[in-house]
Order: sequence, then structure tokens, then C-alpha cells
Amino acid sequence: MVNFKELGLVNTREMFKKAVDGGYAIPAFNFNNLEQLQAIITASSETKSPVILQVSKGARNYANQTLLRYLAEGAVQYAKELGCEHPEIVLHLDHGDTFELCKSCVDMGFSSVMIDGSSLPYEENIALTKKVVEYAHQYDVTVEAELGVLAGVEDDVVAEESHYTKPEEVIDFSQRSGCDSLAISIGTSHGAYKFKPEQCTRDPKTGRLVPPPLAFNVLHEIEKKLPGFPIVLHGSSSVPQEYVDIINKFGGNLPNAVGIPEEQLREASKSAVCKINIDSDSRLAYTAGVRETLAQHPDYFDPRQYGKVARNYMIDLYKHKIVDVLGSDNKLA
Ligand code: G3H
Ligand code: 13P
Ligand code: ZN
Repeated sequence: MVNFKELGLVNTREMFKKAVDGGYAIPAFNFNNLEQLQAIITASSETKSPVILQVSKGARNYANQTLLRYLAEGAVQYAKELGCEHPEIVLHLDHGDTFELCKSCVDMGFSSVMIDGSSLPYEENIALTKKVVEYAHQYDVTVEAELGVLAGVEDDVVAEESHYTKPEEVIDFSQRSGCDSLAISIGTSHGAYKFKPEQCTRDPKTGRLVPPPLAFNVLHEIEKKLPGFPIVLHGSSSVPQEYVDIINKFGGNLPNAVGIPEEQLREASKSAVCKINIDSDSRLAYTAGVRETLAQHPDYFDPRQYGKVARNYMIDLYKHKIVDVLGSDNKLA
């Protein structure tokens, strides 16, 4: 048993309180390998932003949970080496689906876990979340729960259709489960294809797809029911066209990829939304860097040659999210 505090990590409690009060959101970036982690820590340290490192089921299968947890421990020291004297780094389990998995993450030093019971019947979601909360809180580990189902398909997170969170359920759910934050469904979804072309309109100037707006009315109703309670948005990649274009130019094929417009995420960040999950945008920046470099340099075979370009693309992306979208820069002592 290792407590996260011994690793120099922090939980989300204070971080979320400051974010809700300050009208900004904390970036929650998924990581699966060294280059992504280096980019996240470089960007968050240089911009003096708190940051949440997320480990998904897919990441655990790909890279091994133990290895990822030691990488996160190294990340705290790395941030200090980069000149960030007081880094605030959360190691978070993304979409935990069982009590046992959440417990194993708490026991190995994660400072935050998500128990995603959103596909369960309401009472079962409460019961499972409560069980995780009771265990995690003994070690001061914070717990994110989810109510409402996101559309889209990503790894094991599957929902056939979007079910917005019902505002009339949030008080009962948060009180009885004891969760520290709540992920809600207001029209975001996982992956790089968040909307079908027939759900979108076309920008007459660029010809690009323009998605329908998020359900801000649902968010505002939830905020009224739970004043100051930390709200989380999953599926919040914007799918930047510049990366999609690079990928498609250099041999990729991502037709009609579309995400959440950044203005809407900027608006959400100013509300009780205090954690915004971004994974797909990092994948796009990474892939754009690799495809472009290999296409331009067919003689390259050292992974560091294209890894470096991909890493720089991700650093730029993460800094942009922190400074221009979420507003979490300059928040560290
Ligand atoms: O919520 C989904 C995240 O994008 C993680 O996806 O399990 O494929 O790593 P993944
Ligand atoms: P995106 O696929 O929009 O990046 O969402 C990631 C996410 O919600 C991880 O939990
Ligand atoms: Zn998610």
C-alpha cells in the first residue's frame, strides 16, 4: 500500500474548489507512453497549470498500470526539474468499471479514481459509487462518478445513444453516493467522430462541418441544483482541423472527423465545469507529427526522430488548451 502523498501527488479536492471559484477548468489529459507524459508535464510546468494525468483501461492494457504509475511518480520530479517548484499533479483512473480496479489504483498510489457506473441502473450506480467512495476516502483519494450516458464508442465505453444527465437526479445522486465530482452528459462524446455529418451544418466559407451546440441549459440547471459542486466533461476534444489535415495530407484517412468547438469549452470552463477530459486531440497531434516526419524523411528509422516532432506537436496542443481554452495557467505557487 502506497499513499499518493508519499509520491508528491495531490487529490482533486482543493484544485477543484479553486477552479470552480476562479472560473477555469483543470485539464485532464490521458497518457499511454513516455512522449505523451513528457509533453503534458512540459506544457503544464511551463504554463504553471495544475494537471490531471489520466490512465484508462486501454492505457493499462497497452502500457501496464504499474509502469504508468511509476512514470507519474517520475513526472513530479520532472516538473520540479523544469523549474516548477510546487507542481500540482493528480494521477487519476479514467473510467474505472469495478470496485476492485478502483481499490487497486488507490492501493498503488493513485490520488483520484473515477467509478463509471453510468451504464448501470440508477440505484446500482449509486451503490457501486458509494462503495468506492467509502474505500477511497479512508486514504483521502477523491472519487469522480458519472450520471447520464455519453454518445459514441471509445474502447470499452459504449453507449448506443446519448442520454443527457437528468438535473432532477443530481442532488440525490451526489448526496447518497458521496462522490467528490460528477461527470455529466450534455452532448459530448468520446473519440474523433463526435457527430454524424447529418447532425451538423456546413460552414459556407470553409465547407467544414459545424456541430450542434452542447446542452448548456442542462448544465445550468445542474449548476442551480448543486451550487459550487465540481462538474466534469468527458469527450471534450475539439478535433483540430490542422492536425486532421496534416494526417490526411500524409497518407491518413480521417474523413468527417469533428469535435467540440473550443468556444463552447471556453464557456463551460467558466461555469462549475472544473475538469475537462482530452485524449483524442493528443492522439491527432501525435499522429500528425509522426506521419509528416516519416513522409518527409523516408530514411528515418530512429523512433526519437519522429517521436521528437510528435512530442513538440503535443506540447503546443496542451499549452493551447491550458492557456487559450481552459484558463488554468498561472495558478501554481
Ligand atoms: O474515455 C476514453 C479515453 O479516450 C480513453 O480511451 O481506453 O482507448 O485509452 P482508451
Ligand atoms: P476525447 O475522446 O474527446 O478526447 O475524450 C476523452 C475522455 O473523455 C477520456 O475520459
Ligand atoms: Zn471519458
